[in-house]
Amino acid sequence: MKKYHVIIFGCQMNISDAERVSAVLESMKYKNTTNINGADLIAVVMCSIRQSAVDRVYGIIEKLKKSNKKPLTILTGCVLKKDKRAFTDGFDYVIDIKDIKKIPAIIKKSKTKTTDDYFDITPKYASRNSAYIPIMTGCNNFCSYCVVPYTRGREISRQAEEIVTETKNLVKTGYKEIWLLGQNVNSYKNKQINFPKLLKIVNDVPGDFKLNFTSSHPKDFSDELIDAMTKCDKLSMDLNLPIQSGDDEILKKMNRPYTVTQYKNLVKKIRKALPKIRLSTDIIVGFPGETRKQFNNTLKILKEIGYGVAFINKYSARAGTAAAKMKDDVPWVEKKRREKILIELTNG
Ligand code: SAH
Ligand code: SF4
Ligand code: F3S
Repeated sequence: MKKYHVIIFGCQMNISDAERVSAVLESMKYKNTTNINGADLIAVVMCSIRQSAVDRVYGIIEKLKKSNKKPLTILTGCVLKKDKRAFTDGFDYVIDIKDIKKIPAIIKKSKTKTTDDYFDITPKYASRNSAYIPIMTGCNNFCSYCVVPYTRGREISRQAEEIVTETKNLVKTGYKEIWLLGQNVNSYKNKQINFPKLLKIVNDVPGDFKLNFTSSHPKDFSDELIDAMTKCDKLSMDLNLPIQSGDDEILKKMNRPYTVTQYKNLVKKIRKALPKIRLSTDIIVGFPGETRKQFNNTLKILKEIGYGVAFINKYSARAGTAAAKMKDDVPWVEKKRREKILIELTNG
């Protein structure tokens, strides 16, 4: 029996990608193994959000080179074009995430016709309780620091009927938590169905489950969505609403098209409509040119809003993005210092 091992990096979309990769490999009669040394095939589902994640792949290549066994190796997930070229030496196959359905054909070099629909794969869910359903992939926002629009391309929304069928099947098999996933779920649109409508449709699937969604971009968080949320009895009260910075000038440089005041007003509206909501957020410290004063504005907003959880990220320049052309002038130690202050604040 041939065995496969999957290496994942962590974000929910990454886990969801890996679930689809696993399903494709199992359709080829491979069985999963958690032991990398016992694997005949190793699939790395990578992330490119920070340079440290990319460096991890170089580490994996070194490890693979040293191993006596020569497993078949595949690299997929969020891979930048320029890294793809660099990684072709380290892996047998570097496959675009949209093409994972073609893995069997690529490996067999057969000319069998396959569809290239990423969504059209029944994944092998990693958890028995909670399941991720991608509803859209890609991103059109081009936040100046972010690689996602380059690794995953433009937004594509999946058909609502497919999402409902996947939800029904999962609920029938006993899943208690459904996550609707996308880089920017609020801009979901397929035919006449937008995100607020989709949320209500999924909520109304019969059964006992909690409904979550992520990620949300504040600019697309409409009144219609807030209204739909109040009508969804299965909705989880945990909501991630990334602010990224508490300073208007930095937000502008990040190409995040809202001001701190607009964000605060949005939070006010959400909390008024859904008093039980628990907010979490994402922050980047040490963005190019971020002064101590601008950082203090972020500190201020974190205190003011009172998030349950905040994910603090040190800015990492990503080649090809707009911010990479700006001077990465906040020293690493200073980024670490700012990160520590925010972590202490949000943990304490
Ligand atoms: N689509 C989501 C974000 C996905 S990336 C959204 O818009 O919120 C997850 C988080 O990684 C981001 O919220 C951001 O805080 C962080 N991030 C993205 N690019 C980064 C970079 N170049 N350096 C540091 N953190 C980054
Ligand atoms: Fe990246 Fe911005 Fe798109 Fe989120 S919304 S994936 S941070 S470009
Ligand atoms: Fe997620 Fe990393 Fe891609 S954060 S969406 S796996 S670049």
